[in-house]
Amino acid sequence: MKTMKLGNSNLEVPMIGLGCMRISELDEQETSEYLMHCLELGINFFDHADIYDEGECEKRFAEGIKSLKIPREDITIQSKCGIIPHRYYDLSYDYIISSVDGILKRLDTDYIDILVLHRPDALAEPEEIAKAFDELEAKGKVKYFGVSNHKPTQIDLLKQYVKQDIIVNQMQFSIQSSSMISSGLEANMITEGSIDRNGGVLDYCRIKDISVQAWSPFQGPHGAFIDKNELYPDLNWALGEICAKYGVSKTTIAAAWILRHPAKIQIIAGTMNEYRISEVAKAPEITLTRDEWYRLYQCAGHILP
Ligand SMILES: NC(=O)c1ccc[n+]([C@@H]2O[C@H](COP(=O)([O-])OP(=O)(O)OC[C@H]3O[C@@H](n4cnc5c(N)ncnc54)[C@H](OP(=O)(O)O)[C@@H]3O)[C@@H](O)[C@H]2O)c1
Repeated sequence: MKTMKLGNSNLEVPMIGLGCMRISELDEQETSEYLMHCLELGINFFDHADIYDEGECEKRFAEGIKSLKIPREDITIQSKCGIIPHRYYDLSYDYIISSVDGILKRLDTDYIDILVLHRPDALAEPEEIAKAFDELEAKGKVKYFGVSNHKPTQIDLLKQYVKQDIIVNQMQFSIQSSSMISSGLEANMITEGSIDRNGGVLDYCRIKDISVQAWSPFQGPHGAFIDKNELYPDLNWALGEICAKYGVSKTTIAAAWILRHPAKIQIIAGTMNEYRISEVAKAPEITLTRDEWYRLYQCAGHILP
């Protein structure tokens, strides 16, 4: 598996990480087997959040990884905090500190490699976030920090108070969900795609050396788009032709489309299926041509003005 550095850190991670949002769907035995399979593919980066199945995903992962007796330093664990499901967002000092303590307990580890702020909190005081980060870093509970679903100005505001580098920004991104691309390509046009939904975050992250992680890399507005011919006939036709050329599956090509972007985006894949994660893991070996990349983009319904 090809690797990459996250942000300006020395953290070397695989280009494909496993999103553990659905890992509690597997039983203990299945979890161990699945994690072993991922590690054999070179996927030793695991994305969590305190809210995934109310903490059950972190617990199930911890049991699974423990059974494999993998040295802690051989894997990278990221988790997120800040969402109180169906109620509000909370990035207060007290919440961040208590959330990380819960994360460490459930993951059965002394530290997490990366703590990510799951979503912006309108009531957040950046001074409080800075205090929480300082304390978590000083106590060795968190090594690196990141954000998710943040716009450039929100990161700038945070950075005015937080001294640690922000090394990742996790954003929704796939061939289907690609407003980060279309708002740039359709700049200066009166078109739907020209609407800037994220403040030019993709360019911003490149300028600031923040790695973008793609969440929901195989989903669009109507769920997973691969083999959904009734909803996405053109896209699936194009994926089918291109995957036949490379001798891989549509899943590999959909992942290769993300990796082809020069921003060096890390994919956070959420499949719990051994065959599909193996197909995703092949993507770093494939470099789509410019023609293929733009063809897939347009077949997904986006326009070039
Ligand atoms: N930061 C945020 O706000 C945020 C939000 C959502 C998710 N995330 C993170 O991102 C990770 C990935 O998100 P996700 O699970 O929504 O994304 P995903 O990888 O795009 O979707 C995976 C889901 O699509 C299904 N699927 C169907 N056909 C597929 C195919 N051909 N290839 C791959 N998957 C296919 C999978 O089912 P099978 O399991 O049966 O393969 C699984 O249910 C999560 O686990 C979580 O860690 C972050």
